[in-house]
Amino acid sequence: MTDAPASQFTPRVFSGIQPSGGLTLGNYLGALKRFSEMQDEGRECIYCMVDLHAITVWQDPDKLRHNTRELAAGFIASGVDPEKSILFNQSAVPEHAQLAWIFNTVARMGWMQRMTQWKDKAGKNAEKASLGLFAYPALMAADILVYHATHVPVGEDQKQHIELTRDVAAKFNHDYGVDFFPMTEPVIEGAATRVMSLRDGSKKMSKSDPSDASRINLTDDADTIAKKIRKAKTDPDALPSEAKGLEDRPEARNLVNIYAAFTNQSVDQVLAEVGGKQFGEFKPMLADLAVAKLSPISTEMARLLNDTTEIDRVLARGAAQAREITVPILKKTYEIVGLVGA
Ligand code: TYM
Repeated sequence: MTDAPASQFTPRVFSGIQPSGGLTLGNYLGALKRFSEMQDEGRECIYCMVDLHAITVWQDPDKLRHNTRELAAGFIASGVDPEKSILFNQSAVPEHAQLAWIFNTVARMGWMQRMTQWKDKAGKNAEKASLGLFAYPALMAADILVYHATHVPVGEDQKQHIELTRDVAAKFNHDYGVDFFPMTEPVIEGAATRVMSLRDGSKKMSKSDPSDASRINLTDDADTIAKKIRKAKTDPDALPSEAKGLEDRPEARNLVNIYAAFTNQSVDQVLAEVGGKQFGEFKPMLADLAVAKLSPISTEMARLLNDTTEIDRVLARGAAQAREITVPILKKTYEIVGLVGA
């Protein structure tokens, strides 16, 4: 058996976001902003609203429909151009779910049990969690591998799932004696791969945090953004002039990381500019920057959502383009597995 390194395969970027309601600054800096940058580097990019993943926990059907279109608007408003990238929703491309079933037979129960996202989401109530939530990473592996995607831009929290995707590919290749699926590389880059809560620097910024003040939503207006940054938890010290000085200051580090990500600078570059300043001075700078970068996005999202027929047209076309890639890869997978009549 040999692992099929990603380098044997045509470079291809894939990533997804759940339409489970509300995009945060974490989704923007950790994912969406990177998605449009990778597209603008001229790579082949495929981006997906993973609605089948969203329903692994209960979703109100009307809200799910709305959230899927709102997420599509968020992708486009953040710079993902459907003329350059393939943009669609997961359920419209049935090969994702079909390959996921095969991967359910490849992945092991123990692998799933070790997933920290499963442990966090199912918690003590694992008996009552859906079977889909448990199998979630196998569907994610299928999302990626049904395109033979070589690179997956994600935030830090998805790293373990990409490692599992590599395990699934390696075991499939080994069990069937083929070099069919690539060893996909996670792309976890930039200053904001883990944007933290504005209220608690030890917790990830998340749409599911009960405190709205803990996060910036892409739909927040300028005043709300400025107020949330002004009220963000910090410490009383001035900013240091080098990254090392942020080591034991999670809240300060988070705000500097956000500034660095928005301005495409390293943390050291930012600190060379703002080192020595108090938060009373730095927070308004960050608030102005966040408003300047995010306002055009929320305005464009609102405009796009005025006419959902246009969004639906974009998604239908994206799904058709996606299927040109997924149908032959699934067909070949069925042949390898020995399923007759594929
Ligand atoms: P999801 O929907 O939770 O998040 C979408 C993307 O946003 C990133 N992200 C963050 N990045 C930095 N700081 C944060 N606070 C933050 N919060 C979220 C996530 O890392 C992710 O990149 N399982 C995935 C969706 C998925 C997927 C895939 C991703 C399904 N199939 C295939 C890549 C490839 C998820 O739940 O992401």
